[in-house]
Amino acid sequence: HPEMPRDEVLACLEARSISYKILDEDDKMLALEIEIGEGELVSYLSRRLSMTFFIDEFYYSCEAAKDVIVGNAPKIQIPTGKKFRITAYRTRSRHKHFSLTQTVNELGAAIKGAANLSKPDIDVVLALTNKAFVGRRIYEFIRGDFDARGMDKRPFSVPISLHPRIAMAMVNLSRIGEGQTLLDPFCGTGGILMEAHRAGAKLIGSDIDPRMIEGTARNLRHFKIGATVFQSDIADVPEHVAAPVDAIVTDLPYGRASSTHKQEILALYDKAFATFAKTLKSGGRAVVGMSEEDRIKIGEKYLKLEKVYPVRVHKSLTRYFCVYVKG
Ligand SMILES: C[S@@+](CC[C@H](N)C(=O)[O-])C[C@H]1O[C@@H](n2cnc3c(N)ncnc32)[C@H](O)[C@@H]1O
Repeated sequence: HPEMPRDEVLACLEARSISYKILDEDDKMLALEIEIGEGELVSYLSRRLSMTFFIDEFYYSCEAAKDVIVGNAPKIQIPTGKKFRITAYRTRSRHKHFSLTQTVNELGAAIKGAANLSKPDIDVVLALTNKAFVGRRIYEFIRGDFDARGMDKRPFSVPISLHPRIAMAMVNLSRIGEGQTLLDPFCGTGGILMEAHRAGAKLIGSDIDPRMIEGTARNLRHFKIGATVFQSDIADVPEHVAAPVDAIVTDLPYGRASSTHKQEILALYDKAFATFAKTLKSGGRAVVGMSEEDRIKIGEKYLKLEKVYPVRVHKSLTRYFCVYVKG
């Protein structure tokens, strides 16, 4: 998705009140000035981000042209006694008109300091996206992390659950902070709750279907995750939730009779958003997945729509992930 990974990063920073300044960005990269230390930042973001590949210390960005990239080499400061190596790549075969090898050789010659290709202290990375971004690699995300809680690893699973990575992105877009309370009132198999646990949230889940509630409880027990889970029609959820919740993250039924327990789908969406507005704290966000674009406006009767992320699942199915705020 062109914007979801970027917005997820910013949302995580906001969730922890970390101030930032955007220095530069394109469709693949986001360069930020952040006020907290490297160790704290990496330990926090590595637990939360689902769509990011790397964290680098930013040296500079510039036009993707060899001479400009090499001309900026003085911005790369290698501490005395440390050795560096340069790795370069282009995303989606961009900028094929100039040689990466030659650029790397010239950049290496222009950097003050000694290179060591086999045992470097500093990994300088040149990424050619729309522009050129140069940085020092700090952290590489383990992509398999999310598969550990994938459908095939859960004791209870039905094919309605979102991919854990999408579930985590939704949780992050809600800006939930550690120790805050997150509610999923259409929790199904508990996929969203399991990811929200990574954010250190207190979890509440409910669903109309007792089999789902039993299944969610089994999944949570299996992964040793604590949560309050109960069976309820969406309209009755406010009776069970004592205090306003900080965030709601949920994936609404698609509208097939089996998934809505024969309730008329538009009426069900209306009831759902009325419940969200009742249970959410003022200023809190509801991040809601749905499969039909024209249902987004039902939510706007109750909450302020902040942003919509359409995600194409396959040729005939687009999911809309909508961020609403309670005013
Ligand atoms: C798309 S699924 C949610 C999937 C879930 N995110 C997961 O990871 O498994 C929608 C869920 O809404 C529940 N549901 C349908 N009608 C409901 C209602 N009126 N009140 C509460 N839950 C309802 C269904 O039982 C189903 O589990």
